[in-house]
This record gives sequence, structure tokens and C-alpha cells, in this order.
Amino acid sequence: MKYDFETVKKRYSTGSFKWDEMKKYGVKESEDIIPFSVADMEFVTAPEIVEALKKELDASIMGYAAPTENYFETVCEWMKLRHEWNAKPEWILPSHGIVDAFFTAVRTFSKEGEGVILNTPVYYPMYLAIEKQGRKLIDNPLKKSGSRYEIDFDDLERKAADPNTKLLILCSPHNPCGRVWTREELSKIGDICLKNNVLVISDEIHFDLIMPGHKHTVFASISEEFANNCVVCTAPSKTFNIAGLQTSNIFIPNPELREKFLNSLMLSNPSPKCNILGYCASEAAYKNCAAWLDEALRVIDANRKLICSYAARELPAIKVYDLEGTYLLWLDFNGLGLNYKELAKINHGEAKLFFDEGYIFGKAGEGFERWNIACPTRYIQEALERLKKFYR
Ligand SMILES: Cc1ncc(COP(=O)(O)O)c(C=O)c1O
Repeated sequence: MKYDFETVKKRYSTGSFKWDEMKKYGVKESEDIIPFSVADMEFVTAPEIVEALKKELDASIMGYAAPTENYFETVCEWMKLRHEWNAKPEWILPSHGIVDAFFTAVRTFSKEGEGVILNTPVYYPMYLAIEKQGRKLIDNPLKKSGSRYEIDFDDLERKAADPNTKLLILCSPHNPCGRVWTREELSKIGDICLKNNVLVISDEIHFDLIMPGHKHTVFASISEEFANNCVVCTAPSKTFNIAGLQTSNIFIPNPELREKFLNSLMLSNPSPKCNILGYCASEAAYKNCAAWLDEALRVIDANRKLICSYAARELPAIKVYDLEGTYLLWLDFNGLGLNYKELAKINHGEAKLFFDEGYIFGKAGEGFERWNIACPTRYIQEALERLKKFYR
């Protein structure tokens, strides 16, 4: 490996969401324990990004910054090379976050009381975007099929056909269960939505984090009709572990939808901008860090394989779902006969295992754990030993 995927920079008391939560449960700085919860990586930043940021700090003053032509071209080039998607620069609206963007999209493209479909269990802020803004949650629960989840298309068809249903928030790849939706599945979803005038908000933040043997398809790349009926949310933040720099790219190919989105954004955020270092890091990442990403994916894949084989051998009551994409492994602990509150108590107490508890992703997640495996392999090994000690 050319890059460093072994060093961990401990983030106690640095304001890290993930690390500071562990302090609540009495984990001390001197202990060699890392959290496996919030979706950022425990890998040090790619040196190409650090270099670019240092150069920017030396060369520039930190004034107001807009994305440059080069920025837009670099983002589009990544979409073309990595995702075979011919996106146009004018489709891009930079935003400091995807959660903000899907909140705005829900507000823009539906009215109070109208229905928004979610495939549950799912990333919890998606529920908030619907419920906190007075929209109606239309649940299209994912179906379990062996060690993966599938869309219930009959149910989706029925629910999309209700004239009160206006939007589908698609999580692609899906967080938390790790599915990379196939082109066929996405085509079916898109056809159902087109037929029923349901707009697709496709959150593709994990789109670069794909395991061997799987392929991500950008929803808008499938057809012009789909492109005109969607908002695609992307970012380099998960891919290159730069979420703290708050720069994402929202693609709205349909000019009418784009204008509507911008007008509505103005009411909540009258002067939307990202920061100068975010643009700089994103451009450097997309231009120079494909090799870093390929190596990071190899480490994540090795961690995935290690957990799967260890669990099959030592912890057969814990079911591990296939990880096709993301670095968020989904495990079912229900076979242990504990309820989800007992499970959390043991994990956060004696076991010192800081996963994300499955219930935060909806009722279907009760008794599950979401394990962020983007970290050095030795921490996975250590956590497996602790799992064995407490749950075998
Ligand atoms: C599916 C999904 N969407 C959005 C986000 C967060 O996006 P942002 O930090 O750009 O708001 C996450 C973070 O975990 C996520 O998993």
C-alpha cells in the first residue's frame, strides 16, 4: 500500500460527533478504543488533500469564494470517469450538506400533508425531513431476502399510485443495510415514479464506496426522463473523509426544478455558500485521490471479509448482511434473545462497543447494529474478540 491506513488520530475532545459520544459512557483517552458509529472514517486524510489545503492557505486570503469553472469541470470529470455519467456543470448546485439539500427538496417539491416515500430502515434524518416539515411518511419497507434486502415493488407501486404521494427519497447505496441498487432495480423504481408523477430525491452520498463485484448506477444516468424527474445528491465527503469541510454537489438536470429549488432555498438560506477550503479539498480529491480511494476500499473490503468469516465461525447467532456498498455493515443481533435496550446497555457499558444502534434507523432496525468498518483492521480484530467475550 502506498498510503497510510494504520495511523489513528485520536479525536477525544476535538468536537468529533463520533468520539465525544464515547466520553459520555466513561471511555478514557488513555484506552485504545475507537468508536464505530457516525459515518466518517478513522483514516488519516489523503496527503494530496492536505498538500492542496496547505497551498491554498499559503497562497490565498480567506475571502468569499464561489466555485470556479475548474471546480465544476473536475466534479463532472469524476462523474464521467468513475460513474459513466455525462453530467453538465450547470446542473450543479453546491451545498454545504446533503441533509440540508433533501430537507429543501422536500419543502420545495411537496406541500404539507403530502406523502413522501421512504424505504425503511433508513438514514434517520430522512424521517425528520418528512415529519418535521409536516409531510406524511409513506413507508415502503425493505424486504429481507437471505442476507440482503430488496425493494417491495408491489407495495411501492400501490403507494406511488396514491395521488397524495409526491416524492420518494431514495438512499442509493442504501444506508444502513449496504445495498447497491442494481440498474434494473433503479429502472423499476424510476418507471413507477414517472408513471405516478412522483419525483425522486436520490441521496447518493455513498456512491463511490462500492465493494468488488458491485456497480453503482447514478439514478439520473439511466435515461433523460429519469434525469428530468430527479434531484441527485452527491459529495466527496464520505468518499475522502472530508465531511467536516461541508461541501457537496446537488445535481438538478431539469431547469424548472432547479429554479424552483433555488427559489425555495432562498427563503431558508438567502445566501447559500460553501467555504473556500471545502472547494479546494474537493477539487484536489476528485483530481488526485482516486488511488487513495482504491486503497481505502481494499482495507474496508478486508475488514468486511474478516467480520463475515469470524462471525460465521465464532458468533453464529449474529447475522451479518452483505455489504455491497458504503462502509456501514449491518448486523442482526436478534438471535441473541436480548431486546434492543439491553443490547445497547451491554455494548455501551461493559463491552465498550460503540456501534450505531439499529433502532435509530426505524423500528425495523431494532436489535440490529450498524458497524462503521472504515478503520484500521487491528481495531476490527479487537472488537471481534470483545464481541465473542460478551455474546458467545
Ligand atoms: C445517506 C446519507 N445522507 C446524508 C448524510 C450526511 O450528509 P451531509 O453531511 O452532507 O449533510 C449521510 C451521513 O452519514 C448519509 O449516510
